[in-house]
Amino acid sequence: MAFQRVADADQLKVGHALFADLDEPVCVVRLDVDLVKAVHDTCSHEDYPLHEGWVEGNAIECALHGSVFDLDSGAPESLPAVRAIPVYAARIDDDGIWVDTAQQLNDARPPRH
Ligand code: FES
Repeated sequence: MAFQRVADADQLKVGHALFADLDEPVCVVRLDVDLVKAVHDTCSHEDYPLHEGWVEGNAIECALHGSVFDLDSGAPESLPAVRAIPVYAARIDDDGIWVDTAQQLNDARPPRH
């Protein structure tokens, strides 16, 4: 697999997240004009979709019970989640937002989905 285009750059505002339906469900977060991150969309606590949560600094908070996941390590920074989620390679350029799920940047196992 290679980088796949998931959206136009202007479809995702800074500080927001979107869902990408790739071979794994992916939550794509825009942290700055030229910076995006991608993680598995499934919360490791009870499988809630993370793209419905809130971006907080370099992390995303699950909307169901409030676990916060670091977007670089995938690790939960707060309970109730205790397992990390996969982090994937992502980039943004003039042509859009791109994610490569074959390039996992940590060693977390995908949550069940
Ligand atoms: S489902 Fe995400 S914290 Fe519970």
